[in-house]
Amino acid sequence: MNAPLQGHTASTSSHLRPVLQVESVSLEYRTPQRVVRATHEVSFEVDQADRFVLLGPSGCGKSTLLKAVAGFIAPRDGVIRLDGVQVREPGPDRIVVFQEFDQLPPWKTVRQNVMFPLLASRTLKRREAEERALHYLDKVGLAAFADAYPHTLSGGMKARVAIARALAMQPKILLMDEPFAALDALTRRKMQEELLQLWDEVRFTLLFVTHSIEEALIVGNRILLLSPHPGRVRAEINSHQFDLHSLGGVAFQQTAQRIHRLLFDEPGSAPSTLDLDFQDIRIAY
Ligand SMILES: Nc1ncnc2c1ncn2[C@@H]1O[C@H](COP(=O)(O)OP(=O)(O)OP(=O)(O)O)[C@@H](O)[C@H]1O
Ligand SMILES: [Mg+2]
Repeated sequence: MNAPLQGHTASTSSHLRPVLQVESVSLEYRTPQRVVRATHEVSFEVDQADRFVLLGPSGCGKSTLLKAVAGFIAPRDGVIRLDGVQVREPGPDRIVVFQEFDQLPPWKTVRQNVMFPLLASRTLKRREAEERALHYLDKVGLAAFADAYPHTLSGGMKARVAIARALAMQPKILLMDEPFAALDALTRRKMQEELLQLWDEVRFTLLFVTHSIEEALIVGNRILLLSPHPGRVRAEINSHQFDLHSLGGVAFQQTAQRIHRLLFDEPGSAPSTLDLDFQDIRIAY
């Protein structure tokens, strides 16, 4: 397929090497009975400060791709590079935030939860870890809850703790797998807004998985569309022009419909001229 689309990054460093390079990656699960191919020759690049979204239907291999970037699964074919170095195992430079916020140990306070990975990975000594934890708890608006226990928090607050804990590690790339899917619609919207505000302040590099077209357009500045199982790249779209304020607008709706067609139209059928009449899109059939 074509070379990855040049991103509309927030940084001025788009001419530099991408933070993450995924090159023709095929991923498989092997059981004694059979082999399941989760993704087929997927390529993309994530630049510094990108909010890069993997979007596709259930079972297309989004979570599997994220796990491979995190280093939990080795590609069957292809290569993944972080800052030019091949990913072979998990590391503190890639932190994953999952959908389930009950990943927070309930016997640790919010502050201790955020400090824990910093101490466990020997990134910082206790005193610096505490300072760093409080800094990021403040950023997500939870400074007043540093001594609370997770079970006393709402779902949205737990999500914020998980984000603070991940950002406190200052990873090269933050990996989020449907982080807001378990939240009610209003809280989800609020978390999307807060994530964008946080990104505005911290300018972290994000790889975000969702199967919601709307969420992809709001959260992402670039979106990779994956076909149904096994996931192949259908297209890549620049979506930096959309945010929460675009919701319900004509351009937003049209792009959402365009994405829907690209995701679900038969792969054999040629993309319509309507789909192709945009400079910001690269189709891969
Ligand atoms: N541990 C596993 N063993 C065998 N097959 C698996 C395993 N995990 C996932 N798969 C298969 O790999 C494919 C991709 O799964 P994956 O969880 O990555 O999809 P997804 O895009 O994240 O879906 P969803 O949107 O539902 O989370 C699916 O066909 C799934 O059944
Ligand atoms: Mg998944």
